[in-house]
Amino acid sequence: MKKDRKLATKFTHMGRPTAGLGTSVSHPVTRASTLLFEKAEDLYRNDIRGYGRHGTAVHDALADLFTELEGGFGTLLYPSGLAALTGPILSVVSPGDHILLSDSAYGPTRSFCETFLKKIGVETTYFDPRIGASIKNEIKANTTLILLESPGSLTFEVHDIPAITKVAKAKKITTLIDNTWSAGITLSPLKLGVDISVHAATKYFGGHSDVMYGAAVFADKTRFLKAQKTAKQLGNASSPDDAYQILRGFRTVIPRFRQQEATSLALAEWLMTRDEVQQVLHPAVLGHPDHALWKRDFTGGGCIFSVVLKPLTDTDVLKFVNALNLFGIGYSYGGFESLAIHCDPQLRRYLAKTLPGPLVRFACGLEDPSDLKADIEQALATVF
Ligand SMILES: Cc1ncc(COP(=O)(O)O)c(C=O)c1O
Repeated sequence: MKKDRKLATKFTHMGRPTAGLGTSVSHPVTRASTLLFEKAEDLYRNDIRGYGRHGTAVHDALADLFTELEGGFGTLLYPSGLAALTGPILSVVSPGDHILLSDSAYGPTRSFCETFLKKIGVETTYFDPRIGASIKNEIKANTTLILLESPGSLTFEVHDIPAITKVAKAKKITTLIDNTWSAGITLSPLKLGVDISVHAATKYFGGHSDVMYGAAVFADKTRFLKAQKTAKQLGNASSPDDAYQILRGFRTVIPRFRQQEATSLALAEWLMTRDEVQQVLHPAVLGHPDHALWKRDFTGGGCIFSVVLKPLTDTDVLKFVNALNLFGIGYSYGGFESLAIHCDPQLRRYLAKTLPGPLVRFACGLEDPSDLKADIEQALATVF
């Protein structure tokens, strides 16, 4: 595919079988554990695929699309977004290392670092997501990895990525970002100096809340090969059926993403005008403390954001969420249907100040924004 083609064109045409009489438009799914060899002499060749865990044509096509999306050297595929974070992390760290993790990182990433990594002798300390170049003060002699997530989970702070990667590169420290929010459509972290960009493909690429998947895109060959070895050792294979669903999702991800992005911005801007709301945590909204940084590095938004409501009792927060009819109560985002959660019971921040009211997160689906707005309005009226 020509390099100068736009992403929408690449996502439509890349990763398909060569056209021929009667060829299907998409690669068929091949389910395999055993792969047969023609001759005994071929059994120990390492230039051919030898076993089901090594992937299929669908996996190869999917990996190529992620690599194209991020402009990387190569992509490794994982059975979930969390596995796409933990696998590459394990390929970088060794006992005795120290790593830095953003204080607004996704909860299970925090938990992995605090428990699993601790058990193998890797120390984690947290940094303020708005730290920028001052990250240099957090680095120790044994720091080998900085874990970024921008915007952060639940509270949506934006990092100064180039300032952080400049420091990391000077100290030869690997940087890995959880790039799930932007889908790689509105942020290209590898171009800002990040070494590894991770997607919970479960979200936008799955798009229908019915498949779990993950991908890690590597800027360079050395880190890619190390992570590939780790993935093989851990047996990190993904199902061909799931890979197919994600490849299928790639074909329509841009129009779905654009509609959800527009809906989330429209709802966020409307919520800014509501008396019941103290803060809207969406970096694409004017007045957000990281808006300028977001505008510099991102080309658009995402489908998920939070609001800080005016103080309510715990019972009324639950009443508000329960009163929503179109927003399902559930984790995740990027599916065709809208979701809402109250965040306070899971909000863990060591460094950030406490928010002045209850935090509620909205993930926008493909419904008409006017219906979603009316739904939130009637739910607000039940408690204010
Ligand atoms: C920001 C972020 N990263 C990673 C993950 C993990 O992805 P998965 O659910 O596919 O394991 C999630 C899931 O909610 C997420 O929100």
